[in-house]
Amino acid sequence: MDSAETELIRWFQENPKASLGQVKKLFKTWCNAFVLEPNVLAWTSSGYSYERSLVKRVEPFFDILILKWTPGAKAPYHDHASRGCLQVVLNGKLHEKRLGVSGEPAIQSTLTPETSPSFMNNSLGIHSISNPTNTNVFSIHLYAPCKHQTKFFI
Ligand SMILES: [Fe+2]
Repeated sequence: MDSAETELIRWFQENPKASLGQVKKLFKTWCNAFVLEPNVLAWTSSGYSYERSLVKRVEPFFDILILKWTPGAKAPYHDHASRGCLQVVLNGKLHEKRLGVSGEPAIQSTLTPETSPSFMNNSLGIHSISNPTNTNVFSIHLYAPCKHQTKFFI
């Protein structure tokens, strides 16, 4: 286990109320050391959606998943684990639309490696993510706590 991972686990074990900025920094460091394996690069699209795979589970604190977004892939509006989701875009860009908890109009933003990590939780509302580009985009997501069953709102 490398030091970034140790620090990330320690943050969730010992500092549950520490700053979001701190955990964002630790997660970014963890993602910078992540290597895309050939089998992940070779994932094929199911036609309209995205591929996802569990990279790391640290019970009960968090799950880390790698996602591949083929051109046009879209995740419908969905909720998140109770402590939220951190997302790092590894290449290219993704498009995010957010709806507030009372159904306020969508806020749209572009997620890139430079703006990562972004954070989302249920107190901010729900969001949908899509790949507006012509190339595959990869992103890494941390969900806390682990084993969240995502609810989709179509
Ligand atoms: Fe999400």
